Amino acid sequence: MSEPIDLAAFPQDFLWGTATAAYQIEGAVAEDGRAPSIWDTFSHTPGKIANDDNGDVACDHYHRWPEDIGLMRRLGVNAYRLSVAWPRVVPGGTGPVNPEGLAFYDELVDALLEAGITPSVTLYHWDLPQALQDRGGWPERETAFAFAEYASAVAARLGDRVKLWATLNEPSCSAWIGHLEGKMAPGWTDLGAAVRASSHLLLGHGLATQAIRAAAPGAQVGIVNNLSTVYPATDRPEDLAAARRHDGHVNRWWLDPVHGRGFPADMVETYGVEPPLGDDDLATVAAPLDWLGLNYYFPAYVADDPEGPAPFARSVRREGVPRTGMDWEIDASGIETLLLRLTEEYGARKLYVTENGSAFPDVVRPDGSVDDPERQDYLERHLAACASAVRRGAPLAGYFAWSLLDNFEWAYGYDKRFGLVHVDYRTQVRTIKGSGRRYADIVRVHRGQGRRAA
Ligand code: IFM
Repeated sequence: MSEPIDLAAFPQDFLWGTATAAYQIEGAVAEDGRAPSIWDTFSHTPGKIANDDNGDVACDHYHRWPEDIGLMRRLGVNAYRLSVAWPRVVPGGTGPVNPEGLAFYDELVDALLEAGITPSVTLYHWDLPQALQDRGGWPERETAFAFAEYASAVAARLGDRVKLWATLNEPSCSAWIGHLEGKMAPGWTDLGAAVRASSHLLLGHGLATQAIRAAAPGAQVGIVNNLSTVYPATDRPEDLAAARRHDGHVNRWWLDPVHGRGFPADMVETYGVEPPLGDDDLATVAAPLDWLGLNYYFPAYVADDPEGPAPFARSVRREGVPRTGMDWEIDASGIETLLLRLTEEYGARKLYVTENGSAFPDVVRPDGSVDDPERQDYLERHLAACASAVRRGAPLAGYFAWSLLDNFEWAYGYDKRFGLVHVDYRTQVRTIKGSGRRYADIVRVHRGQGRRAA
């Protein structure tokens, strides 16, 4: 074990959860009225995904969700972060709501509550209805309004039971990886489109925040960002400036507008593209939130890259440091640094770690068991760092491990496994890994036995 976790730091009503996302686990892509999303299109485009995998079946959660709730019960968690698939609920992107799509989530929410598990619903985890992409997607302003309309329909149906709502998951991935780097759906490499997409994602967040609150009084609304600690690769002034730009690209661009600061001027200059939002739009984006979600995975060490794409900064791979199977550097102190940054620099009043976890190649033993000491160590170190952040004043109200299940890891397909629960994709057999058993122990100690160290 890496180090004891100061569990007494976490409040008594702390949410201990796991997280998933619709396209990564549900499968059933053509059932009960669901229409294609940009991820169906992208994953069915040869060469875009490792092994040409796709989410057609994934973990078959659409049919196996009762078993998956059973797994959560075995883990002893009291919360679950799921995402709703927009193309299931409003298959055309705008227009008629699909009753069967909503019914799926309705039943799921009831069963979670019945199991004593608090649902936390994310409305957009990257699966834009293809019909909206065909009309221009996120670079178009109309998509933001379509998102709010869909958010309203979901909140009206689930809002009597779901209290915790997130508008967007990791909008930086949608905008930058999807529209600038081209490595995620829709696969564009166009800086102008990426900046427009980022703006309309944020506008959609603001409009959806209003829509959720109107449809579900009492809703607690937040946004989920994947943030990185950013360090210069050397102390050259060029690298210091590059680190500042990278921080602007992955962190400040997403945090500043939501906190009423507008887009960071240095980044507007770096991109050379004016975001297409007026003052009223920016006021909409900045509606005060009930909580902020942090997804943390790795730190970034950055060097100047004048010939590269915006923001002209490239991540440098450091040798001799521990890494996950994604080749991501492991640095648990980053989660503490970011929780404190959100608290001190952005005045966060309530925080959730909405994702944190690691992929490693798992080995299934002949007896069917899976031990994953590296993932367990990652989990323990990051929880210890969260506890330390709480001791230093971060208002952390919950931690959601990524992920409940091994699942479709986007462009990496099924090769990368993040689950606390192993999934055999041939048989759909689920097996709780050693890390899952350890998480269950931690949760049990905190929830049941007086919050001592574990
Ligand atoms: O699997 C993803 C998830 O969909 C978004 N956050 C990062 C995870 C690991 O890459």
